[in-house]
Amino acid sequence: MPTIVVIGTQWGDEGKGKIVDHLAEKADVVVRYQGGNNAGHTVVVANTVHKLHLLPSGILYPGCLCLIGNDVVIDPAVLLQEIQTMRERGIDSSNLRISNRAHLIMPYHRLFDRLEETRKGEHKVGTTGRGIGPCYQDKAARTGIRMVSLLDPDTFAEELRQTLEYKNAILTAVFGEKPLSFTEIYQEYLGYAEKLRPYVLDTGYLLNERIAAGQKVLFEGAQATMLDLAHGTYPFVTSSNPTAAAAAVGSGIGPKCLDKIIGVVKAYTTRVGEGPFPTELLNETGDLIREIGHEYGTTTGRPRRCGWLDACVLRYARQINGLDCLAITRLDILDRLPEIKLCVAYRWQGRELTEFPASLKTLSEVEPVYETMPGWQCDTTAARSYAALPPNCQRYLDKIAAVSACRLGVVSVGPGREQTIILEDMF
Ligand code: GDP
Ligand code: IMO
Ligand code: MG
Repeated sequence: MPTIVVIGTQWGDEGKGKIVDHLAEKADVVVRYQGGNNAGHTVVVANTVHKLHLLPSGILYPGCLCLIGNDVVIDPAVLLQEIQTMRERGIDSSNLRISNRAHLIMPYHRLFDRLEETRKGEHKVGTTGRGIGPCYQDKAARTGIRMVSLLDPDTFAEELRQTLEYKNAILTAVFGEKPLSFTEIYQEYLGYAEKLRPYVLDTGYLLNERIAAGQKVLFEGAQATMLDLAHGTYPFVTSSNPTAAAAAVGSGIGPKCLDKIIGVVKAYTTRVGEGPFPTELLNETGDLIREIGHEYGTTTGRPRRCGWLDACVLRYARQINGLDCLAITRLDILDRLPEIKLCVAYRWQGRELTEFPASLKTLSEVEPVYETMPGWQCDTTAARSYAALPPNCQRYLDKIAAVSACRLGVVSVGPGREQTIILEDMF
């Protein structure tokens, strides 16, 4: 299978970075196709922890071409800082290419993200505050600024002047804030332009060439299915499409080029930010999972809400993404638990739901139907094969496969590269 899409099936932080890093060893190209620095993908190599926000996880392999696609939104200061951090660690980014169609996160996007959240009060989304929503808003409103404009000082000045005039009108009239200075932003961003110029081109052409040449390509999803603007728990979602089909739109290839879709599944569920979460554990077990698993956001440090695995979410994710197989991560975090629950259905108003509800009111009222299974209560972190896993652990994995109607492709038992059990050939 020459092209593989890796996506999150839940509410993010499933361990996509770890899985992409594992598969990237054999990949020629790794592509980020949506989102921005709201993502935090952790890759652990030997004892070094890399927290990647915009750079594709393939950056850790010297020969791998890394692409940032057209539907990614880029905060240039963050990207340049990430390149610099990598350089200090001896990791070279000369194989990075950035789409000239990618949109820029501007200072007013970060500001509006904060102001709009404050204005929403108790109805806030709980965003990462990185300006992601306002940037995609401008893209859809056709007032965004793209990389290609940044590289041409006159075009950039014209677009920035027009947009800023409107932004400042809202900032002052609606929010009572001070207007932002054109000159300051213009100068700051021209500085970024010169540093980014060597990386920017039409990544779509490059990617199509590589696919035609039979190269192995990995698409690295950010966020996850339940945070998808079209399919997630709207409005408690992000502003892009993390689902598999978006890998084509977000990188400039045809949908028939996507060969295999892997859904990354945390062995339980977490969520950062607001919104319904049927299997959430607001008790000691939830606290225990958070502490054992160090479930605090990679990007914002916020404590993650924790709960049991939800097969209703997995079946929905299988349908939306056309999943071929699952990569189960963080199984080891459940090692100590005496029993484990798995939500196999939702009951609502006395009946079992067959569809994942669009209504958040319904979703907040559903009652999870659990199957309780005995835990395995032993260390799985040294297991390197399915057979080496304890029988109760194998039963849990088989149950996940059965209730989600999807086969197991990968099982991860620790953050390290070697702590990975491969059940199906990927490339
Ligand atoms: P992503 O956003 O989906 O890439 O996930 P994050 O990096 O935000 O969060 C996943 C965390 O789990 C990271 O700290 C990873 O290093 C870690 N991780 C990934 N797989 C495993 C695993 O199987 N076991 C353990 N204990 N940690 C894992
Ligand atoms: P990775 O790629 C978990 C959540 C935010 C908030 C909502 C909208 O590391 O899995 P945004 O800033 O995107 O407008 O916030 O989406 N969110 C994530 N949650 N992991 C992520 O990325 C996330 N990116 C955004 O917490 O609820
Ligand atoms: Mg993350």
